[in-house]
Amino acid sequence: MPGYRFLVLGSGGREHAISWALAKSPKTAEVITAPGNPGTAQCGINVQLDLNDHAAIIQTAKTHEVDVVVVGPELPLVNGIADDLRSMGIAVFGPDKYGAQLEGSKEFAKNLMEEFGVPTAAYQSFDFSDHSAIKTYIREKAQTPIVLKADGLAAGKGVFICETKEDAIGRLDYIQADKALAAAATKLVIEEFMDGEEASVFAVCDGLNYVLLTPAQDHKRIGDGDTGLNTGGMGAYTPAPVVSNHVLNQVKTEIVEPMLKGMQAKGHPYVGVLYVGLMIKDDYSRVVEFNCRFGDPECQVILPQLESDFAEMIVHAANGTLSQYKPLFYNGFHCSVVLASDGYPEFYEKGKQIHGLETLSEESVVFHSGTKEFEGLIFTNGGRVLNVLGKGDTLNSAINNAYEIVKKISFDNIYYRNDIGQKGLKRI
Ligand code: AMP
Ligand code: GLY
Repeated sequence: MPGYRFLVLGSGGREHAISWALAKSPKTAEVITAPGNPGTAQCGINVQLDLNDHAAIIQTAKTHEVDVVVVGPELPLVNGIADDLRSMGIAVFGPDKYGAQLEGSKEFAKNLMEEFGVPTAAYQSFDFSDHSAIKTYIREKAQTPIVLKADGLAAGKGVFICETKEDAIGRLDYIQADKALAAAATKLVIEEFMDGEEASVFAVCDGLNYVLLTPAQDHKRIGDGDTGLNTGGMGAYTPAPVVSNHVLNQVKTEIVEPMLKGMQAKGHPYVGVLYVGLMIKDDYSRVVEFNCRFGDPECQVILPQLESDFAEMIVHAANGTLSQYKPLFYNGFHCSVVLASDGYPEFYEKGKQIHGLETLSEESVVFHSGTKEFEGLIFTNGGRVLNVLGKGDTLNSAINNAYEIVKKISFDNIYYRNDIGQKGLKRI
């Protein structure tokens, strides 16, 4: 059958959602996920690939004659996978190495925002080795709370919000003592603290045109009521009411459009997802961070919320024809609850058998993150294990529908938050 052929890179819940949304399209002929997980295997085929091995990725794309390679995680993008694929004539959904620095380097992102006039926190950047300049700045200029950010990718561990100047100065030694963190912090960005509520908006871009997907809210802390350690994200819902129409328009005109125009002017038109992390206060938003990919777990709600053809959108975005695509969205809400291994984001056990998936109705959607299949059975294989999706006309019914499904799934040491979406309910 003729139709689009996709290679999706990655292996988490985000990639399951991407492969699921691509496979749903009547225009899709094949979805290959590399390396994938037991969830993506149900959307097509999985191919074992090392995402650092760009030659093997190119070879797989050629062998399977794929139309578009969709890159899930940031690391391959920061390492230039999009450049390498495009140089071989293979279309990619994802920015080039230059554009991926919007996520890969805080200093780069801040410098561009400043240059393009995009609203964000005031900042100053330093060579981390220059401790005396950093300390002088903290003592004499910085206002508390002080936000310290390691410049490079730090797996969500590179940002410190310090209540006092002493705390900020003490953090310098802490960063230096941690090898991985110090490697990410050859540059250090010191930023103004922004008060407000966080949300994220995802612009799907073709270099010139863009489509905004519905705004979402992640729940980054491990505990109910936003308590405890930071995680990759314990659940999400969309649309997030904190992102009013006013904020959405402001995001378009003051953030996404200047960024797209600016990247084009730099000779690096931005193709892929521009993830805009926002801080919203008094119905006005400023950028907390950019990422160069879909959010995880936000992707697991925003793709189900999109009712128009996702595969077509990706093909248009990768080929510069997004102006021909008209997105349509579900009129209600989606909510996704992450089922995790107790102990995450620190120490947890793996290899627990997951029960109940086989009893779910056909319409129930559960995206796999950290799972493993063995002889037809599914076992836990990571900190974040599954994402249970709920859909409803109201946010309340979407939340209730998700937790109804959660009750039917079990494994040893299961842990999840009980308050996903509550922040949104309070605003409605
Ligand atoms: P980032 O990796 O830049 O997204 O930062 C991680 C988290 O730190 C964000 O999601 C915010 O909760 C918080 N954060 C980062 N920068 C700021 C800031 N300037 N003001 C307040 N909170 C911030
Ligand atoms: N959910 C946060 C992230 O994907 O960065």
